[in-house]
Amino acid sequence: MGNRVYIFDTTLRDGEQSPGVSLNVTEKVQIARQLAKMGIDVMEAGFPVTSPGDFAAVQAVAREVKGASVAALARANFNDIDRAWEAVKEAEQPRIHTFIATSDIHLKYKLRKTREQVLEAAVAAVKHACKYTSDVEFSAEDASRSDLEYLCKVFTAVIEAGAKVINVPDTVGYATPEEFKNFIANIVKGVPNIDKAIISVHCHDDLGMAVANSLAAVSAGARQVEGTINGIGERAGNAALEEVIMSLHTRKDYYNVSTNIVTEEIYRTSRLVSSLTGMLVQSNKAIVGKNAFAHESGIHQDGMLKERTTYEIMNPAMVGIAKSNLVLGKHSGRHAFKERLSELGYGLSEDELEKAFARFKRLADKKKEITDHDLEAIVEEEIRELPNTYELSYLHISSGTTVVPTATIGLKVGGETKEEASCGDGPVDAIYKAIDKIIGLHLVLEEYLINAVTGGKDALGDVTVKLRKADNGKTYIGRGVSTDILEASAKAYVNAANKVVFEKNKA
Ligand code: KIV
Ligand code: ZN
Repeated sequence: MGNRVYIFDTTLRDGEQSPGVSLNVTEKVQIARQLAKMGIDVMEAGFPVTSPGDFAAVQAVAREVKGASVAALARANFNDIDRAWEAVKEAEQPRIHTFIATSDIHLKYKLRKTREQVLEAAVAAVKHACKYTSDVEFSAEDASRSDLEYLCKVFTAVIEAGAKVINVPDTVGYATPEEFKNFIANIVKGVPNIDKAIISVHCHDDLGMAVANSLAAVSAGARQVEGTINGIGERAGNAALEEVIMSLHTRKDYYNVSTNIVTEEIYRTSRLVSSLTGMLVQSNKAIVGKNAFAHESGIHQDGMLKERTTYEIMNPAMVGIAKSNLVLGKHSGRHAFKERLSELGYGLSEDELEKAFARFKRLADKKKEITDHDLEAIVEEEIRELPNTYELSYLHISSGTTVVPTATIGLKVGGETKEEASCGDGPVDAIYKAIDKIIGLHLVLEEYLINAVTGGKDALGDVTVKLRKADNGKTYIGRGVSTDILEASAKAYVNAANKVVFEKNKA
């Protein structure tokens, strides 16, 4: 067994199964590109048989991504596998990932199959997938609650049938680290042909132990870890890959393994995933939270000033959090702006740079000091890849404790500006009703979140909205940033509406 651990990202598949998260093809491709830049070994782009949208996204990611394997998920039946292959076949390194549950509880209630029938289906599926590609992964769903002897029998048979990776999911997040480590060690012992395959683990976080379980499995011989960026996913989510990666990296003395990850890309990947999924990262989240490298107590600050390693086990720069004392302001020129962005890792085209610089100048008129967080927020807003059918031209609000909130909105649409006005329960409601009148879509506001990008009275307000389309129930995330929170609210709504229009036009 070598000491390289392969990192398998399933943000685009299991991560997208987070309640309320729905990414369109363009957003998936954007994330996939960033995952490749970060050095992810395998990315699972979706589950093609589930919908034409998922199929299209897997196909687009497969066509786009270079330097990483692209996996498509399929249940253990020929139809799923054929669709998965159809979607993923143009990838530089395509992988078919097929699965079937092996625990008695799933066999009895969900599959209504005997152990023998499941074994047969697993072997047949792997053989069928191997007709398309030699890179086949087999997952035994709910493995951690399966009978060990039976599980080993299934793994032995699928390796014999051609599987190169056998995945051990803790599907319901039930395992504990010590137990899971023993479980993996027993699989190593109980599967005679294990030297022909890589053991992978896929842990869910229902008891908050997904990362600990994944690491324990590595100690026992697992050499592929599956998870998602920011730990998003079904229910409580999956193992947070940034935590797994940085644990292996920081405690190399203990785990004695390595990955191919460009750790400096972690923070940017986390930001991108958060921004496009609308799943905010909690401030105290390990590695990528706002406070992960903040030192508040006097004793800690004193220690840090004397020697950073007294209170910091990782250098923030290692995960791509650039700490700089350089604060831009009104008098900063294009050159300083460009330099700072490239230090932050943004390589913008000339056009994007122009737009971002104009935005920066407008912001500098309102805000004295522009920090890295401000820059990230405005640049991320400017470089979104979807065409903007609607653009906020102006807004006028009348609100107070004794007046009915009223909004007048101007939206630019194809060269002309359309204006509408509306009253509402509050100023935001009035704005959204006025926008609805212009765009004529039936959208329901499901979630509204507001965050201050930095501290201070002149901080940028960062608004995230989740809109549901009334006719098909699909949700769309929108984000808007401005020093004026009502403007940020309007921009977020328009951003989500543009995604609806984009999808409608494509269809
Ligand atoms: O959690 C799980 O068991 C899965 C499998 C499909 C790998 O996501
Ligand atoms: Zn899962």
